[in-house]
This record gives sequence, C-alpha cells and structure tokens, in this order.
Amino acid sequence: MPNDPYLDASVVWRLKSGTLDFREAGYATTVEAILSSGMATEVVGLISAGKEADVYMAAYNGAPIAIKAYRLYRTSHKGGRPVKLDSMGWLAAREYEMTMQAWKGGAKVPAPASRVENMFSMRFLGDDIGPAPRLQEVDLEEPEVFRDAVLKGVGDLAQAGVVHTDLSAFNILVHEGEPWFIDLSEALRIDRTGDSAWQRLSEAKEALERGMRSLAKYFGRYGVEMETDALVDGIIESADRFGVLRR
Ligand SMILES: Nc1ncnc2c1ncn2[C@@H]1O[C@H](COP(=O)(O)OP(=O)(O)OP(=O)(O)O)[C@@H](O)[C@H]1O
Ligand SMILES: [Mg+2]
Repeated sequence: MPNDPYLDASVVWRLKSGTLDFREAGYATTVEAILSSGMATEVVGLISAGKEADVYMAAYNGAPIAIKAYRLYRTSHKGGRPVKLDSMGWLAAREYEMTMQAWKGGAKVPAPASRVENMFSMRFLGDDIGPAPRLQEVDLEEPEVFRDAVLKGVGDLAQAGVVHTDLSAFNILVHEGEPWFIDLSEALRIDRTGDSAWQRLSEAKEALERGMRSLAKYFGRYGVEMETDALVDGIIESADRFGVLRR
C-alpha cells in the first residue's frame, strides 16, 4: 500500500535504540528470550517446529508449561513488511486471546498463562514421558466414543463463542483419553459478530464444514461415520441471533 509507512514507529524506535536483531533467533536466543521474559524459569527443549511457530517445553518453578513462539522471519507469511516483530506479536496475542476465550468458556483447550511479544505460554499437555500425541498419530481403541468426544468438544468451543477454523487430527491432542484443541491462531469469535455478522458467520460455517470433512476423513480410517450437518447448522443458527443468514 503506497501510504503504508515502510517501518512501524515502534520498529524504528527499536532500530535506533539498537534493541532489534535482524537475524532469525536461533535456539539459544529464543531460550534466552523466554527466560528473560519471565514466562518460564527453565526451557526443557523443542517439541515442534511448525510452519510459522515453534513450540517449546518449559517449566515455571518446576511446573511444566508449553511455550509457542512465532518465528519472526522464516515464516510462510509472504510479502508484508520486512520487519515482523509487530505482526508476529499480533498473531501470538490473537491466539492467546482466542485460547483464553475458549478456556474461560469451559472448552478443552490448554489454559493460557501469559503472552510476551511473539510468544505465549500455556498448560503443557502430556506427562513425564513427553507431550501428548496428536490425534493423527494415535490408534484409537474406541473410535466411536472418541468421535463423539471430538464433536462434543467442537460444540463446547462454539458454546464458548469460538469456532476453530483449522480443525484436523493435527490440531487435536489426545491427553488423558480426551481430545484437546490447540492452534487457535485463526479461530473466529461467533459470540460477537459486530457489523460483519453475515461475513463472520459465513466464514465460520465454511471453516466448520472444512474441519468436519478433515475429521470425517480421519475417522474413516476406522470405518466410523461422522454425521455433522446438524451440528454445524445448530452452531451457526444459535450464533446467528439476528438471522442474517436467513434473510
Ligand atoms: N499445550 C501443549 N502441550 C503439549 N504440546 C503442545 C502444546 N501446544 C502445542 N503442542 C505441540 O506443538 C505442535 C505444534 O503446535 P501448533 O499446532 O499450535 O503450532 P503450528 O505452528 O500450527 O504447527 P504446525 O505448523 O505444525 O501446524 C503440536 O502438534 C503439539 O505437538
Ligand atoms: Mg498446528
């Protein structure tokens, strides 16, 4: 955009004050950033290196936590400004807020703890042996029971006002025999739809249908069917308080 300033004012300030590092933070630097932020007192190791964020296992005074750190440069985000601390900080803030909204509403998401710049911390799902596995990697003993738990979980998220727009067996962890939903960076609030209710609800509906197709494919492995139209319609209808989709 022609009128977009080349650099944010806050970034200019960091450049001038010499507190901005242009190289991608390596493992040691990120660990240092986590420790100096006060989010953790110990970093145990890297759990996952994803498309745009890394997830670390850490501890706060002995209690295990997980920390998701959005990468500043090596991301799949194309274009945009050359300096990304602000935009990745915004992504971390958004995921933190969405996770908080879901958690406060009683949905099965890891309890968020704190957020500093491009990182946020949350409850660690797992045990002494390691992090909880993703649904994708698990062989379910009772797939029908688990399918019902996943669908209830999607309903509980909606009840909390959140629609997960990237639902798949990769973003559900199996912890203590239950499905836990993670990776809410792109989630949508459906309890407050503001002026763009029609757009928000249409997007939410499309995302839910896409997620359900992905999950149906996963449960298809076990020959378990998934009837989801009624659930999706129910979620959208109850969020559509003003009937904008029915007009
Ligand atoms: N609270 C947690 N407790 C334990 N492990 C976690 C937690 N949050 C995330 N993980 C692990 O980190 C992985 C990546 O998390 P997430 O899906 O949020 O990040 P991502 O950047 O979207 O990764 P990807 O690009 O691979 O989807 C998860 O699959 C899971 O293995
Ligand atoms: Mg993910």
